Amino acid sequence: MASSIVLFGPPGAGKGTQAGNIVSITGKPQVSTGDMLRAALGAGTSLGLEAKGYMESGQLVPDEIIIGLIEERLTLPDASDGVLFDGFPRTIAQAEALSHIAQLSVVIAIEVPDSRIVERICGRYTCGGCAAVYHDTFNPTSAAGVCDNCDSTEMKRRADDNEDTVRTRLTAYHEQTAPLADWYRQRDLFVTVDGDQDIQKVGQAIALVL
Ligand code: AP5
Ligand code: MG
Ligand code: ZN
Repeated sequence: MASSIVLFGPPGAGKGTQAGNIVSITGKPQVSTGDMLRAALGAGTSLGLEAKGYMESGQLVPDEIIIGLIEERLTLPDASDGVLFDGFPRTIAQAEALSHIAQLSVVIAIEVPDSRIVERICGRYTCGGCAAVYHDTFNPTSAAGVCDNCDSTEMKRRADDNEDTVRTRLTAYHEQTAPLADWYRQRDLFVTVDGDQDIQKVGQAIALVL
């Protein structure tokens, strides 16, 4: 079975930011449950409607929904050589389900202290054209309002990127997701990278792991 990679870490750790690099190095497609749920929400599907309230309040979407989404995603042809999971799994139940449907080579945890998270999340914007991730202070576009990657001028902010929701997301992370670190350590899959340094340095540290 082809092996997959998990990108793990708190909200705002830089999972989406680093994913592009990992995709270029490994050729494995990025599978972000957050992006998939936002796409479902945007398309107005019943799945999107079901997830909406959880996402807007910063709580985890129920495991059955997420596991179903992943099972379906892994049947697509581009997943046959393994994928890069971004933001999944987030509970022990999700990790257990995943262990039955995919083989992992490594779980890369991007470590960032809570004190950095709010400023990261509240300054984030993304390109509507290509989904590139930017930050008002830490990683702005070269020309204001124009994507460096695709020249789109459609910049978006996420509905859940506000201080209140970030606190709920952080609590969910510590209570439900952080215990996965030990779960994966016991399986010899867990590697940490210091995410509290500039974006290029984090990328270099991840490249060393790969
Ligand atoms: P999701 O979309 O996965 O959000 P998240 O985990 O909260 O993570 P983020 O996307 O906010 O952060 P990131 O690590 O990708 O950081 P980024 O690179 O953008 O999930 C959203 C919601 O969907 C959840 O709350 C939940 O409701 C639901 N959901 C999703 N998956 C689920 C699952 N498996 N189970 C249950 N529910 C699920 O960077 C953030 C900002 O920081 C950017 O502006 C960036 O430019 C900047 N930045 C990045 N790196 C650096 C750096 N090194 N230095 C300075 N700034 C940096
Ligand atoms: Mg993300
Ligand atoms: Zn773009």
